Amino acid sequence: MQVFKEKERLRTTLANIKSANKTVGLVPTMGALHDGHLYLVNEAFKSCDQVVVSIFVNPTQFDNPSDLEKYPRDLKKDIDLIRKISENIIVFTPNANELYDSEVISQHFDFEGLDNVMEGKHRNGHFDGVGTVVKLLFETVEPDKAFFGEKDYQQLQIIKRLTKIERIPVEIIGCPILREESGLARSSRNERLNDLQREKAAFIYETLKETQTLFGTESANYINDWVEQQFKNYPFLELEYFEISDAETLKEITEKREGTSYRAFIAAYAGDIRLIDNLALNN
Ligand code: PAJ
Repeated sequence: MQVFKEKERLRTTLANIKSANKTVGLVPTMGALHDGHLYLVNEAFKSCDQVVVSIFVNPTQFDNPSDLEKYPRDLKKDIDLIRKISENIIVFTPNANELYDSEVISQHFDFEGLDNVMEGKHRNGHFDGVGTVVKLLFETVEPDKAFFGEKDYQQLQIIKRLTKIERIPVEIIGCPILREESGLARSSRNERLNDLQREKAAFIYETLKETQTLFGTESANYINDWVEQQFKNYPFLELEYFEISDAETLKEITEKREGTSYRAFIAAYAGDIRLIDNLALNN
């Protein structure tokens, strides 16, 4: 298995692979890999000749220094997990100065409002940081396809927009959310939950499932109030936001429109650990 820390060496290796007409798939990650990430790697492996997994905890997308500091890191374990899928996968794990040519700062993008709601509203500058690092990764790897999870649904929509506004010729593949047996969406942050928090955090998905049922008959206002009340009565989690939005534009629902796909989104805290999840409500 090849592990690269330098852009130039990676580029040279990939140039050889591409000159043999092989397709390249990129799976960007921040490490602390779990089954959700590995699902993306397997999907990439199925449809591309060469898979590159990037592991880089990107400082510019964290608005909270302690969240960045506490982010779990275990490169050796990550490499072992990737190796189990295939020895032929390339791992790219640069440090910040190597990936960002000069200063480690965000570029500003106009995501046409996709970044002003939900995660963007609650995490200052987050999507400029994500856009900056993903653009750098695309420029370095020049993949044919790149794989992102619906776990971060807003991020997936923003990356699709990024490739349009920056005219980056890459196909973006969205992959479904992998869950623990309890229904809790898999996340690197789950490692920080204690046993009780982990068990109680399944409430997020249970609530989303119930909103899916309610969506058939009740108004969005009714469901919003219902979810807020559910969380008020539940001492283990603190709700940050609940929103039902147009799955395409991410605009919050005003009235249900025929032929529009809607999704429900939740962010909640278990102690100081922030968890997010989402679910399609119709078609
Ligand atoms: P990270 O949180 O490590 O996630 C890497 C990829 O794995 C993302 O596309 C995310 O949506 C996907 N993923 C995480 N949990 C998942 C799950 N339970 N099921 C399916 N997919 C899941 O997202 C980031 O890193 C960063 O923002 C990044 C895009 C790498 C830019 O720094």
